[in-house]
Amino acid sequence: MQLIHAASMQTITKSGMLRKISVFADRKAELKELLASANALSRRKPQNFVILGPRRIGKTHLIIKYLLESSSKSRIPICIDTLFLTSWAEVADMLVSGLLHGYREFSGKRIDVDAFFIGARAKATEFREKMKSVEAEFGATAGYYVALRASMEKKNEVNLLINALKILHEFAEKKKITLIVVIDEIQQAAKFANSAEGLAAIRSEMQFHDRIQYIFSGSSPTFMREEFLRKGAALWKQVTPFEMREFPPEGVEELLRAFHPAARHDESCIRRIHEITQGIPDYVVKTLNRMGDTDRISVDDVDSAFEKVVESEIRFIQQIMDELTPDQIRILGTMTGGTVRYKEIAALFEYPPTALLRTLEKEELIAKTGRGEYVIRDPVLRAALERSRFPVQ
Ligand SMILES: Nc1ncnc2c1ncn2[C@@H]1O[C@H](COP(=O)(O)OP(=O)(O)O)[C@@H](O)[C@H]1O
Ligand SMILES: [Mg+2]
Repeated sequence: MQLIHAASMQTITKSGMLRKISVFADRKAELKELLASANALSRRKPQNFVILGPRRIGKTHLIIKYLLESSSKSRIPICIDTLFLTSWAEVADMLVSGLLHGYREFSGKRIDVDAFFIGARAKATEFREKMKSVEAEFGATAGYYVALRASMEKKNEVNLLINALKILHEFAEKKKITLIVVIDEIQQAAKFANSAEGLAAIRSEMQFHDRIQYIFSGSSPTFMREEFLRKGAALWKQVTPFEMREFPPEGVEELLRAFHPAARHDESCIRRIHEITQGIPDYVVKTLNRMGDTDRISVDDVDSAFEKVVESEIRFIQQIMDELTPDQIRILGTMTGGTVRYKEIAALFEYPPTALLRTLEKEELIAKTGRGEYVIRDPVLRAALERSRFPVQ
């Protein structure tokens, strides 16, 4: 089996995080709560979190900001993005690699980060030597990990994950440090072989790891509900849920001030940005970035900047459209002007379109409003469909 090598893994560095979080708006209460949990980390049982919310809402941004402010020599962040991973074995490797890289980066101590990742095809003598050195430095579990990794079979993947978590724990104990382990885009785990077993393994390891805080984050509402919020779910009651909401107008204003500190604008401008982006911070930032350096911002400037954002998201839109059936596209076509009543949608079909609507809702493409009407959730998708006047019939 082919596992990714340490060299191909991304390391989180302080400077990298700083670059990413040059602006951090809104989300003050969330950040405060996370930071309080970090400060309590070595004193009592860790508080774990799950951060939920649609794509682009600012989950990763909040997490990186938190890691940036909470990490230190003795509080090492490990952050894994599961989006491009395909198995628990890869997660295991990323955890161990993240630990080694993170420790080197934040403690400033020298450490052999490649020691664990000797390939299965290495010479037997070389292999034994590496294993011994890892064992000497990191303990017996680590030596076992190296051996297990080399003899990997599919059925051992969850085992490897359990061992990786044990390594983290033992390392934290030995060095008298705490760890913050972030598993971002956790919904990807639904596609792994032995998905449920892996989550159960994480759960049982979590309960014994006093020095480790876990933060999960993901965008698939169905998966997140099933695995974290449902009574009896794998990680139920183990984590404090954080639902990320759209930015309020005050958050939009904060961003506008940060990106265009000298520009004059009035209230209608803020309202327009908020309305057109639906308060989704990614779209707010992108719209602001496309406004250029003006000393006055008008509502028209907002509209034309947003228009450019829509154009630049063609690939994203195309990806969504490629997944849809013609009937689903017809339904979305009814909603390009805003909210639509069920009756109007049903009029297009010979049979009740309830199942079609349900799949679109489940995919988070549409939402039901308080008045029982339907609306396209993503403002850029909606605008793109409206511009190209997608055929409704
Ligand atoms: N609190 C925030 N302050 C400033 N910009 C933000 C904030 N949250 C999100 N953004 C912007 O939105 C973009 C997308 O956010 P991200 O955290 O990647 O979303 P998610 O992880 O939920 O998909 C970020 O790259 C950043 O430009
Ligand atoms: Mg993210």
